[in-house]
Amino acid sequence: MIRIALIPGDGIGPEVIAEGRRVIESAVQAGLADVHLEEFPHGAEHYLGTGVTLDDETFVRLRDEFEAILLGAVGDARVPDNRHARDILLGLRFRLDLFINFRPARLRLAELSPLKGARAGCPDIDVFRENTEGFYTGSGGILRPGTPMEVATSESFATRYGVERIVRASFEHARTRSRPRVTLADKANAVPHVYGLWRRVFQEVAAEYPDVESEMGYVDAIAMQLVREPGRFSVIVTENLLGDILSDLLAELSGGMGLAPSANLNPGRHALYEPVHGSAPDIAGTGRANPVATVLCVALLFRNEGADAAADRIERAVDESLAAGIRTPDAGGAATTEEVGRWIAEQVLDG
Ligand code: NAD
Ligand code: IPM
Ligand code: MN
Repeated sequence: MIRIALIPGDGIGPEVIAEGRRVIESAVQAGLADVHLEEFPHGAEHYLGTGVTLDDETFVRLRDEFEAILLGAVGDARVPDNRHARDILLGLRFRLDLFINFRPARLRLAELSPLKGARAGCPDIDVFRENTEGFYTGSGGILRPGTPMEVATSESFATRYGVERIVRASFEHARTRSRPRVTLADKANAVPHVYGLWRRVFQEVAAEYPDVESEMGYVDAIAMQLVREPGRFSVIVTENLLGDILSDLLAELSGGMGLAPSANLNPGRHALYEPVHGSAPDIAGTGRANPVATVLCVALLFRNEGADAAADRIERAVDESLAAGIRTPDAGGAATTEEVGRWIAEQVLDG
């Protein structure tokens, strides 16, 4: 039994989670998985109504009673300081110690990429984004706020422990790929302390994996190469903020934000799945949100829980929907969120 907590969240979050739920229910109906689902109301609306972002009782339940969390998105203009999103999304990443943010970018259909020479299957790059350190800890502060002498600091953290575990995870993962190669993306030329530690640890770990090719590069040049020659990359490991930026770039190169899933993992312990995209307030409520990123999160979830047949069937159904042109406008179609979700769910059910 896979117990899944659904947190629809804000904006298009509830719209895409409804379709993720539909696909989960189809997989269950098809006998491909045994699932218990429970939905949680946490998000901007709940925070504005109750003053609660994520209460301890809910946190403990999410930690102890579920194999996986599936989150839509958090972010709402009515909460300008983004406090609820920090408590819910970053809070869960930090408190569950979800140190791997796994963001696979694979072009499923060539015509969806803005790249000139794109062909299906390329880019095919797995980003391992460090998910518990860097600039994201909230460390820092403001001195003399609002005055001409105002000072703001945000510190970036890299611990040997934190860097080593994500780098090691990326090398282990590279071994499972047809091209075992890991690229470290950093900015050691400008920010020597934090990225210097990353480089030293990366080289130490790389020496333990002689069967895996390794290279280190500066993130600005890597961003350029991702556009120019994405086929040379297989696995990219990087620090939290750089990984956030690279994963949006890669999502767009691989068919768009509407198609990109991610998994926040502490293997064997906890997992939170979320599309790479946000709450997309510009299209919320219009039926234009692409549910495929969330549906592919469901596939990742099933795969990590050992329900490979369910994962395979869902991925195949997604490919078939794209090929058949059952797509939302961002992917060049005219279907609504619900039409795409229903179509995929039916394919999953019919096999
Ligand atoms: P966004 O990803 O929400 O949107 C960027 C652009 O992509 C928009 O034009 C949007 O319409 C489009 N888009 C995104 N998802 C789409 C989908 N499924 N289908 C079709 N088009 C899609 O990024 P943003 O506008 O910078 O952020 C909006 C809010 O979301 C902010 O509050 C931000 O903090 C938050 N956010 C949350 C998460 C998360 O919860 N995981 C991730 C990123 C951003
Ligand atoms: C993401 C988002 C989050 C991040 C925001 C909403 C804090 O952009 O999941 O990619 O920066 O990690
Ligand atoms: Mn992001």
